[in-house]
Amino acid sequence: MKNIGISLIAVLILAALPTALSAVGLTGLITNILPYVAIAFFLIGFVFRILLWAKSPVPFRISTTCGQGKSLPWIKSNPVESPAGYWGVIARMAQEVFLFRSLFRNTDVAIVDGRPVYGSAKWLWFCGLLFHWSFAIIVLRHLRFFVEPIAPWIGALSALDGFFEIGIPTLYLSDAAILVGLTFLFLRRVVVPQMRYISLFTDYFSLLLIAGVVTTGLLMRHFFPADLNAVKALAMGWVTFSPVVPQEISAVFHIHLCFIFVLLAWFPASKLMHAGGIFLSPTRNLANDSRMQRHINPWNAPVKVHTYEEYEDEFRGKMKASGLPVEKE
Ligand code: HEM
Repeated sequence: MKNIGISLIAVLILAALPTALSAVGLTGLITNILPYVAIAFFLIGFVFRILLWAKSPVPFRISTTCGQGKSLPWIKSNPVESPAGYWGVIARMAQEVFLFRSLFRNTDVAIVDGRPVYGSAKWLWFCGLLFHWSFAIIVLRHLRFFVEPIAPWIGALSALDGFFEIGIPTLYLSDAAILVGLTFLFLRRVVVPQMRYISLFTDYFSLLLIAGVVTTGLLMRHFFPADLNAVKALAMGWVTFSPVVPQEISAVFHIHLCFIFVLLAWFPASKLMHAGGIFLSPTRNLANDSRMQRHINPWNAPVKVHTYEEYEDEFRGKMKASGLPVEKE
């Protein structure tokens, strides 16, 4: 409970920050300085952590497999569940990234009459997928603020997302989906005692920060509309490196920005790095080819070996004398 409380307080402080700054005439810190600082933190931190992981030696093939590996030609192998080559690894990784393949296999265990009983647990997979896909769609839709002219596919994506035309302005399906996904992910950590026990500040803070971004976005779209022309001018100013004079667009918009850029800066320091880390996970990115190729551990100290050939050369006379078979006469 302590971790939930601290992260909630941290998020509330961040929500109050833009209003406090605008009261002393420092809105520019949020609209013109924070974006660049946050993106610098994000890029440098992201690259740094990836390089750190990439530098770790991976001496063995430790791919997790759940299918028949490639061996003799007449034994049917499973190229995706136990990839033996490059393409198999790519196919498996793509399933992992786009469909959360391994999470689909998530199981639940409960003690029934003193015995562990395993069952299927698909809710985490479903809500995780819902959350990540809707997040991606929302970010892609936001590109309308950053490009001019707006690419037709962005308009098409928004139209598809608002297909059911519920309400005015239309409720986007991705907005409803992300709320469902986020609520599940948060409640799972709060309600399930085992999850609560292992959850840290970073887990709650990331979820609450994203919830803050989504809530302020929805507030702007449905209750406190922001001046979208001013937003576009501001966003175009960022990407063209010609920042515009900060305007008081709206308090909710400034909170939205504050949450987003703190999230970006926080990203490399947090578990959110799983987005990049997945590609460097040896259990996922290695081919299971140990039967075809000998992988030598680069850490092995050089060992002086005595081969059988050398052994026989040394003892041939004695071996023959005692009647032992020899390979060379
Ligand atoms: C991590 C990135 C972001 C996320 C997850 C996010 C999330 C959201 C969500 C869920 C909404 C509700 C409506 C919708 O889905 O379009 C929204 C609206 C909005 N967001 Fe963001 N946002 C992000 C970045 C930004 C940025 C960088 C800006 C500044 C240019 C921005 C400005 C706005 C505005 C002006 C609205 C209201 C749009 C409208 O009235 O239709 N957002 N945001």
